[in-house]
Amino acid sequence: MSCGGHGGGVIGGQIGAHQGGVEARPRGRGLSFKARSLDKRQACSAGPRGSPIGGFRVQETTVTSWDQGWAPLYDAADTMRMMQDYLDFYAGLVTPGTASLLDLGCGTGSVTVAVAEAMRAHHPDAPALGIDLAPAMIDIAAARDGSIGWAVGDICDPPVTDRYDLVICCFHTLQLLPDDAALGQALAAARRAMAPGARLAFDIYQPNLDFLKMAAAGGLEPGRIVRRFPDRTGRELIVREEAVCDPDTLTYSGTWFLHDAETDARLPVDPMVQTLRQIYPEDLARHMAATGLAMVERYGDLDGSNFTPDSKRQVVICAPA
Ligand SMILES: C[S@@+](CC[C@H](N)C(=O)[O-])C[C@H]1O[C@@H](n2cnc3c(N)ncnc32)[C@H](O)[C@@H]1O
Repeated sequence: MSCGGHGGGVIGGQIGAHQGGVEARPRGRGLSFKARSLDKRQACSAGPRGSPIGGFRVQETTVTSWDQGWAPLYDAADTMRMMQDYLDFYAGLVTPGTASLLDLGCGTGSVTVAVAEAMRAHHPDAPALGIDLAPAMIDIAAARDGSIGWAVGDICDPPVTDRYDLVICCFHTLQLLPDDAALGQALAAARRAMAPGARLAFDIYQPNLDFLKMAAAGGLEPGRIVRRFPDRTGRELIVREEAVCDPDTLTYSGTWFLHDAETDARLPVDPMVQTLRQIYPEDLARHMAATGLAMVERYGDLDGSNFTPDSKRQVVICAPA
């Protein structure tokens, strides 16, 4: 995903407030419907109305995760984060004592595989498990590396009985949980999955209040371009986003529409809505204390920079309290 916190676009969103990278929309190609805020676990039919796009009506369903048509695009569309920083940071958590790995919300498994490889340099047969709610993401992860265990599951109640030396939850996945109760459940489940002496590491955005208030005030251009990337054939695609930001909670919902970059024609992939909740440092500290987790390190980004009130991210390493 990534934004809500910092910039535009729910995934990897550095476009917007921080980089000013929003592209103008060609005239006369407007999206004429409004994004709706949905419960992230429910698929919602748009009904017979459909959406008038490019002169024809599209019958559509809105999906609420990286599943169905979007999963095969995840890696190509993941253009806005410094992936090498992610791989280096999480693989850098491996020590000679790390002999098991659990990745909660593993997506297509790119980080899981890098960390597992670092671990297996010390322990060639060490078990690794990635869990994700979206079956299509798990399918891609499994094709990436068959030596890792992959499972469809909810990180609030993960299908896990073993204990792990390193538990990770990368790229603001915790912000995709629907409410405080779910966040507490996910942290408690992560805590239960930790072996004695284990570490839990995750990264979330720090709320970017200027950007979010601007979004809540309707300041984002409807249908702005938040991603541009080539598909497997080299065809250039763009993602247009309709965003709503709740003025009270600053929860940010972005609905993504896939278009051909050259013609701007809407492509037949169901729109995807993702909702990012804001998690403030003090709320995170409260949740961690309630679930028996102690923060041992905190950074402001995946490059290991110091955490400050203005940091883009909250990158946290915890131990059992
Ligand atoms: C922003 S992606 C991050 C994926 C991966 N960690 C990475 O770094 O590329 C968030 C992932 O969390 C998954 N997800 C969202 N809510 C989840 C839940 N409750 N349980 C398990 N996975 C979830 C989504 O399907 C998606 O693959």
